[in-house]
Amino acid sequence: MKILVTGGAGFIGSNFIRYIFNTYQDYSIVNLDKLTYAGNLENLKEIEEQDSSCKKRYTFIKGDITDSKLVDSIIEKDVEAVINFAAESHVDRSIDNSRIFVETNVLGTQVLLDAALKHGLNRFIQISTDEVYGSLGPDGKFSETTPLSPNSPYSASKAGADLLTRSYFETFGLPALITRCSNNYGPYQFPEKLIPFFITNAMTDQQLPLYGDGQNVRDWIFVEDHCSAIDMVLHHGKPGTIYNIGGDCEKTNAEITKTILQELSKPESLITYVKDRPGHDRRYAIDCTKITRDLGWSRKYVFKTGIKETVKWYNENQSWWNKIKTGEYQDFYKRWYEDRNKQE
Ligand code: NAD
Ligand code: DAU
Repeated sequence: MKILVTGGAGFIGSNFIRYIFNTYQDYSIVNLDKLTYAGNLENLKEIEEQDSSCKKRYTFIKGDITDSKLVDSIIEKDVEAVINFAAESHVDRSIDNSRIFVETNVLGTQVLLDAALKHGLNRFIQISTDEVYGSLGPDGKFSETTPLSPNSPYSASKAGADLLTRSYFETFGLPALITRCSNNYGPYQFPEKLIPFFITNAMTDQQLPLYGDGQNVRDWIFVEDHCSAIDMVLHHGKPGTIYNIGGDCEKTNAEITKTILQELSKPESLITYVKDRPGHDRRYAIDCTKITRDLGWSRKYVFKTGIKETVKWYNENQSWWNKIKTGEYQDFYKRWYEDRNKQE
């Protein structure tokens, strides 16, 4: 099978390419990625190396998913399935400036859907997020029928893409499926997201800025478990269906922070409570009964093991994140954290 993975140079996309490349020896993978600040070809260095000594199963194309001519020319070359990871993915950045989120996440998905339809693809998988459901109170979980209620420009753009994907199934019969996963963590995550940001700050004795009271809850899943779930959906999912994916692991941000500090033997005095994220969703929790029951998926990692592996990876790959943390992406961060550090 030949698959097109978009956004494959990012965190989850690169882990997914590695997973598929190593699991299916006869699959070929095309990776279309714009290489934004979050895209990094170093994430796939060993795949490039392995591939050059074998059958050329992996191809990288630098480009934008909103470029319909380019997308069309890639898909027409025998691609059988598209897995769309490409996105602007960081909530804080969407609060700073939402335009690119609409362009990539909504328009880009529409371009891919059109090309998939034109060339009669067997599968279109839209990689979405639990954030489209909004925020929960102290009880309950998101199921696939929970109404969409996105609160950030990021989640609103992802919800828009989900609705477009659904409409291509309903209107045109495109065999499209949607996955909605909770918070991922693991190797190669860009150090702007909570876990890698705090691990790398703690390693360098910098402050860990916890938003608000630190009691917001997220459900955490190790990235490899997300990849195995997408594998199941790709091969066995029913067209027109939404699948929730989660780690059955609810934790407050304060709990996550303390675990990271313990793993690194660093003091809790590194924690600083800063001004809250605007529109900050209080709690996410995922009911993933459907994918477990219908496709037989289950997660492999518990948080204790996953976080140890993750801390170890950032410890052993300091040159990977040092380059990023001293690069131009800092401009956004200086502004953002200057503002967050101003206590109300
Ligand atoms: P990421 O920011 O690490 O990677 C995104 C990738 O998309 C980058 O390589 C970037 O260069 C590429 N990209 C951005 N705009 C593009 C464009 N216009 N054309 C082509 N490529 C483009 O993101 P991630 O955390 O790996 O998330 C991947 C997907 O999974 C996203 O769709 C996100 O919404 C979804 N998701 C993420 C999480 C999470 O916890 N990280 C959880 C659930 C769902
Ligand atoms: O739930 C899935 C979503 O998870 C994905 O769709 C998004 O792409 C991904 O970025 C992630 O969104 P979050 O906003 O939950 O992730 P983030 O790592 O930015 O923040 C996690 C929690 O930690 C959130 O409650 C905000 C808080 N936080 C985050 C940062 C970066 C802090 O307290 N301090 C910080 O510096």
